[in-house]
Amino acid sequence: MKNLIPSFVRVPVVFFIIFGLIEYLIDSGEKPAFIEYPIIMLFLLLVLLILIAIEAIVGALENVMLNNLDAGAKERFLSEKEERYESNWWKPLYKKLTRNKPIEEEGEIILDHNYDGIKELDNALPPWWIYAFYMSIIFAVVYLVRFEILDGPSQLDEYETELAEAKTAVEEYKKTATGLVDFNTVELLTDASDLSAGKTIFELNCVACHMADGGGGIGPNLTDKYWFLGGDIKNVFKTVSEGGRDGKGMIAWKQILKSVEIAQVSSYILQFQGTTPANPKVAEGDIWVDEN
Ligand code: HEC
Repeated sequence: MKNLIPSFVRVPVVFFIIFGLIEYLIDSGEKPAFIEYPIIMLFLLLVLLILIAIEAIVGALENVMLNNLDAGAKERFLSEKEERYESNWWKPLYKKLTRNKPIEEEGEIILDHNYDGIKELDNALPPWWIYAFYMSIIFAVVYLVRFEILDGPSQLDEYETELAEAKTAVEEYKKTATGLVDFNTVELLTDASDLSAGKTIFELNCVACHMADGGGGIGPNLTDKYWFLGGDIKNVFKTVSEGGRDGKGMIAWKQILKSVEIAQVSSYILQFQGTTPANPKVAEGDIWVDEN
């Protein structure tokens, strides 16, 4: 049983199974677990050492046992082992692939030149080499057809598609992310696209109480310099997202609008400053002076 798979296959296979299991079971985010947690690298090293040690111990035990056998038993054991070795699945396969000749038959493949007594055998190329070579030929043909004849995308094209994809992904993220701006980081938006988005939000949610021109109704007049809760972008953002004072009738819009949208609508209503609405509500609150 032991010789069915040679140890130089057994050790790496067992090692990589353990390695794969660790990577599968430990959640280490983007990076592989053994890089994220160096202790795992140590553990893997230990596993490898133990696997090699087991192989060495088994080998040594066999040797000890062999030395204790009498000559006849020794021979029987060795020939049995040889037989098992020869009947391994990989041994004949390897022989077939390399077309190895036993030393006695080397005369058949010797080349007829002689460099100061150094002769050369016409051995078959090593299988790994020859199959890698064939694969490189297949790859070259596929590559040539795809990129030179069928005009596949160049590296530059690929770069540009990736860039465009990343840009849309960022836009997508900005649209859904809720915590991108807050009371502390919000800035007055001046882009036409932001202001028109703000206008849409205002007309959808706010005109019922503040009127389309900001003149006020249930809610206060947004065109004058008088504010209950502060008239710069930060305070307006805060009022809109957290709502007005208790019981005054203005809800906290952060339940409904994303923070980006609140920044847009706040920037939009600040444009009402100094305009003259059709039916202005009387000024309420205090005159707002910007301390900055
Ligand atoms: C149901 C009616 C109602 C709706 C809808 C409404 N508001 Fe108000 N709003 C009020 C009331 C009432 C107040 C006064 C709150 C207070 O006195 O604390 C107010 C206050 C405000 C203030 C503060 C004014 C100040 O003097 O400090 C801002 C800014 C404001 N609203 C913006 C908005 C925006 C933007 C929307 C839409 C997203 C909106 N409101 C929707 C009723 C409303």
